Amino acid sequence: MRIVLLGAPGSGKGTQATRLKTELGIAHISTGDLLRAAVKAGTPLGLRAKAVMDAGQLVSDEIVLAMLEERLEQPDTHAGFILDGYPRNLAQADALDRLLKRIGQPLDAVLKLNVPDADIIKRTEIRFKAEGRADDDPETVRRRLQVYAQQTAPVADYYSQRGLLTEVDGVGAIEEIFTRLMAALKSRSTAAV
Ligand code: AP5
Ligand code: MG
Repeated sequence: MRIVLLGAPGSGKGTQATRLKTELGIAHISTGDLLRAAVKAGTPLGLRAKAVMDAGQLVSDEIVLAMLEERLEQPDTHAGFILDGYPRNLAQADALDRLLKRIGQPLDAVLKLNVPDADIIKRTEIRFKAEGRADDDPETVRRRLQVYAQQTAPVADYYSQRGLLTEVDGVGAIEEIFTRLMAALKSRSTAAV
């Protein structure tokens, strides 16, 4: 199964993707995690990406697409994958469409976690205090939310028009939200039969 998980920063994409990966036996691909690994490793790409990420802006489409293409070549993705944090704008959605057509692996579903900004601000504040992730400081979170509203929100319409989108309430206990996501996937696959 090949899934895109959409949602604002802090909406729980990473948390839920980890569970979906285990439940469905598919790969979890987070472009944010890949970029943070490059930053940590101090690669030239990581050095370029760091300032952009710390400012809460999007890293260039070319860099992220190249990283994703490389990741999709790894064998653990053959059983399927969850994309977390990609696509983040319409150009990336188009690029993904072309890439998946080329490798013959079309998407099965796009799930969107809906979480109000007030909850996101609370969640990221807690994580900022606990883990100190650089882009979780309140001002950068506001910037990330703006970037999401301007550039990423239209991606949901893109998938809705293609009949792939299911929206899920992303507020509540983590297990409860996971149950909602699994139910959404199940009803999609039943509808497809
Ligand atoms: P990325 O790493 O993708 O970050 P993000 O989407 O902005 O947000 P998070 O990862 O913080 O949130 P999440 O939705 O995964 O939620 P999580 O499960 O962590 O991107 C970082 C940066 O990299 C971008 O700003 C950009 O610069 C760059 N980048 C990445 N992809 C890119 C792309 N495609 N193109 C260009 N640039 C790109 O949960 C958040 C917190 O809430 C956690 O502490 C968690 O424990 C908690 N939590 C989760 N669920 C619940 C719940 N139900 N109740 C209470 N708390 C909860
Ligand atoms: Mg994440």
